Amino acid sequence: MGSPGLHMARDKMAAAGVDEVAIDTFSHYYRLLEHGETGMIPESTIEPVDMESLADVEVSDEVAAQAIRTTAVIKLNGGLGTSMGMDRAKSLLCVRRGLSFLDIIARQVLHLRTQYDATLPLIFMNSFRTSGDTMAALARYDDLPVAGLPLEFLQNKEPKLRLKDLAPVEYPKDPDLEWCPPGHGDLYTALRGTGLLDELIAAGYERVFVSNSDNLGAVPDARVAGWFAASGAPFAIEAVRRTPSDRKGGHFARRRSDGRIVLRETAQTLDADKDALADLDRHRFCSTNNLWFDLAAMKAALDQRDGILGLPMIRNVKNVDPGDKSTTEVVQIETAMGAAIEVFEGSTLIEVGRDRFVPVKTTNDLLVLRSDVYDLGRDFVLDQTADEVPFVDLDGDFYKLVGEFDKRFPEGAPSMKAASSLRVEGDFTFGKGVQVVGDVALSARSAQRLPGGEVLTGEASTAGASDGR
Ligand code: UTP
Repeated sequence: MGSPGLHMARDKMAAAGVDEVAIDTFSHYYRLLEHGETGMIPESTIEPVDMESLADVEVSDEVAAQAIRTTAVIKLNGGLGTSMGMDRAKSLLCVRRGLSFLDIIARQVLHLRTQYDATLPLIFMNSFRTSGDTMAALARYDDLPVAGLPLEFLQNKEPKLRLKDLAPVEYPKDPDLEWCPPGHGDLYTALRGTGLLDELIAAGYERVFVSNSDNLGAVPDARVAGWFAASGAPFAIEAVRRTPSDRKGGHFARRRSDGRIVLRETAQTLDADKDALADLDRHRFCSTNNLWFDLAAMKAALDQRDGILGLPMIRNVKNVDPGDKSTTEVVQIETAMGAAIEVFEGSTLIEVGRDRFVPVKTTNDLLVLRSDVYDLGRDFVLDQTADEVPFVDLDGDFYKLVGEFDKRFPEGAPSMKAASSLRVEGDFTFGKGVQVVGDVALSARSAQRLPGGEVLTGEASTAGASDGR
């Protein structure tokens, strides 16, 4: 018999109409949680993994075009951008020229359809929190939906669990907050549960390209589609070389016991192995979360396991109201989409350039994306105009929440084409057309306003813009 907490959670999900397999999947992970499963991957059980690079592979135009014509695109859009103080889809934010992430994604796909004479369906995985806004924002693209296929599917929802006894939390003030999406690993459960997996196969699609809606570099590129199709692999992830700022993050490795590729996250690394985790010469590649899979192979893998892939469980501790630290502490059970790489024997990896990995996790990333470091081409693909992407570190007290951030750049982002880094400590509001050149560090105790057109260079900024602390 299961624990009372699990019974209550299952009843709550059933009463809310959650799909049966999704309830069983949740129960599987709940039991792991209850048994203190940590999902640790000791260094002694893995070895470094190498891969070919997209820059070196030969893909003929014909193979690329053929492959993109049988590919469907899924964008992960169920997250709420809580790290930036949002409670809506991050993809609704404006990036440039009045275009949001959603606009740019839609236009990238529409452009590729014309270029390759491909149907290239674009489908969003939304959560119950992001669906309404997203669909309203996409309504203006009449030609985006593909006949017979939906423009979105909803991921499942699961109860947040009280940290102290793992019973479903109650929050009468805002009952919506009693629920959370089960992480992007829910993709597979939701695809099968909604019937979309079968619909795509029946419509003749062979593979899916999935990526985060906050990564505008993740274009459904025909060359990568061609490479994946020709590889014959059931599942692949695009990887990038880790840099010093990725030292603490996860990486790919090969499991010694069966030779399979695995993704090891920081939370799955023993303290004793933290040095190995940080060793960029040993574990050289991390994930972009740009992922390709063969639809028939995915269906077979899911059917074989009654719909439960059995991914490593992630235990996320938060407050029931993420915006209010005084509310009950809860556990959210999550899984990550990329972890499915270990499910398939023939999974593979490909190294891609940083141009395919432009994630926006914080307002620091958003500032760079809104600046002239990138241009938007006629194909709506980001084009890096600067030699390097500057390092940005804005004061969390004034810029972390997107609303606060916007107030301090009322006339848009500064020019950062010639910048190496921008560090801001204190409360600075930027006037129109401020230029950042080289390494700039601003610091002030009282609120400051940088006049329009000001050129900030390393020296000028410390002397001119500080209040003389
Ligand atoms: P992240 O977890 O990195 O971003 O998800 P987030 O959820 O948007 O932001 P935070 O952590 O709350 O600040 C990466 C991608 O996966 C999607 C997100 O929308 C994003 O595109 N995602 C995440 C889902 O679709 N479903 C989920 O349950 C979680």
